[in-house]
Amino acid sequence: SVPILRSLPDLRAAVAGWKAAGESVGVVPTMGALHDGHLSLVRAAKAGCDRVIVTIFVNPKQFNSAEDLANYPRTETEDARKLAPLAVDAVYVPDGETMYPPGFATTVSVAGLTDVLCGAMRPGHFDGVATVVTKLFTQTRADRAYFGEKDYQQVQVVTRLARDLDLGVTVVPCPTIREEDGLAMSSRNLLLSDRARVWAPELHRAMEEMAEGLLAGGCASDLRSQAVARLERAGFTKVEYLDLRACEDLRLLERPEVPARLLAAAWLAGVRLIDNIAVG
Ligand code: PAJ
Repeated sequence: SVPILRSLPDLRAAVAGWKAAGESVGVVPTMGALHDGHLSLVRAAKAGCDRVIVTIFVNPKQFNSAEDLANYPRTETEDARKLAPLAVDAVYVPDGETMYPPGFATTVSVAGLTDVLCGAMRPGHFDGVATVVTKLFTQTRADRAYFGEKDYQQVQVVTRLARDLDLGVTVVPCPTIREEDGLAMSSRNLLLSDRARVWAPELHRAMEEMAEGLLAGGCASDLRSQAVARLERAGFTKVEYLDLRACEDLRLLERPEVPARLLAAAWLAGVRLIDNIAVG
């Protein structure tokens, strides 16, 4: 069975023992509803660290609406069952009071990087992420932290804050795990109706097609219009962004003249899906 720690003193005691023995600590922060994407991060952490902590906390500060927070899937028993065979050293499941005790007043905010993409569409989202991740890093005293490229901008934000605040943790980006039909695994996929689930992989397909067009010499603005039309035919109601951006600083590009990434967010049947792929 999996050792579940719910209080900060319990977590601190476990970590202190490991650190005293000279063991390295890896952390995999999650909001639960675990799938193979999360489990791939856990495997990477197991391979790279002596001790591995998975954290599960549905962080209210990073949600934009009470409804979205309430609807977020919570599957703790199932999550523990999935983690058992991976032999993690602890699953840290703090409650809201532990993370944000009365009077909590501090926000960690990463400038610049968070002005675009999900940062522009979801005001306050990355402040919420940065604040909770900073706390999880300091609470776990992790040497390494594993994040999925599925949330590409998030990886950049947490890498920046770890450096800027000298948190002593190395952020390790891990590749996006997909379903067989190409849909990026996500806890939010559980919210898709059967019908919407059939169309959801069109997001990845439209992005692959756009990437091919870019590599064949096309420009992002023309190819974007075609891709948006394709998504609308598949029933997507709103494409929030479908951008070609530089990997380095997320500046907008018309052509992949430097290492570049295609990033998208779009709504299908009331569910917001995001994805990103390398171009070239
Ligand atoms: P959550 O959405 O649960 O994701 C936890 C971690 O799993 C993140 O690093 C995310 O990028 C990674 N992940 C999700 N789907 C993936 C996939 N298909 N392939 C590979 N990795 C995947 O991201 C969060 O939680 C929160 O913002 C958090 C960092 C925990 C802060 O609250």
